[in-house]
Amino acid sequence: MRPVLEVQGLGFAYGNGPLFQGVSFCLHPGEALAVLGPSGSGKTTLLHLLAGLLPLQAGEVFWEGEAIRGLPEGVLARRRLRFLGLVFQHHFLFPELTALENVLAPGYLVGRVDRAWGLALLRRLGLEGRAHFLPQRLSGGERQRVAVARALYLRPRLLLADEPTASLDRRQAREVLRLMRELAGEVGTALVLATHDEGLVEGLPALRLVYP
Ligand SMILES: Nc1ncnc2c1ncn2[C@@H]1O[C@H](COP(=O)(O)OP(=O)(O)O)[C@@H](O)[C@H]1O
Ligand SMILES: [Mg+2]
Repeated sequence: MRPVLEVQGLGFAYGNGPLFQGVSFCLHPGEALAVLGPSGSGKTTLLHLLAGLLPLQAGEVFWEGEAIRGLPEGVLARRRLRFLGLVFQHHFLFPELTALENVLAPGYLVGRVDRAWGLALLRRLGLEGRAHFLPQRLSGGERQRVAVARALYLRPRLLLADEPTASLDRRQAREVLRLMRELAGEVGTALVLATHDEGLVEGLPALRLVYP
């Protein structure tokens, strides 16, 4: 089976010495990897490189076998829309749209608006009663679950989650992570999950970054 994501010898520096070097790994459909390390160790930088949001320095990133180095920004942006889902620490929901409208939003960009699928995702995340709520009426954990549903709506090959539960309490964080991992597995999406909190991702294969 072809890997969703392959990383070979990735290294990066912002100017003052290397942040990390020689990062290599391979992810297949449905697999998950935790990127661990304290604040400042380069987790966000690594995810941005994987997403093609930061120019590569050393090493290569392959999306379904294709090197992203040198792809024109327009091509990369179109591929990213189909290939990648992103979840951040902040939910970045549209405040004037309901939960369901937020989930469907990526569908408008590619002309594929499927309310039944959007509702199915929300139901799977325990939000069936919240579909028509605005974000301001949702709890922090509910907002993050809507952000997860939105990120998975287009069935991306890869989901990158950068500290997705850092603003939640322990109980909500565990619940959001459990649901995100289960749902990514069901959709067949590979998952890279960055967190400074090792206790949250026990049992996942891990890549450890150290503060330089
Ligand atoms: N745009 C930037 N320019 C210069 N240094 C940066 C930039 N972004 C991040 N850094 C530095 O790189 C290091 C790693 O940052 P980051 O990737 O955000 O780590 P993490 O997500 O693990 O907290 C930190 O020391 C940070 O200050
Ligand atoms: Mg970070």
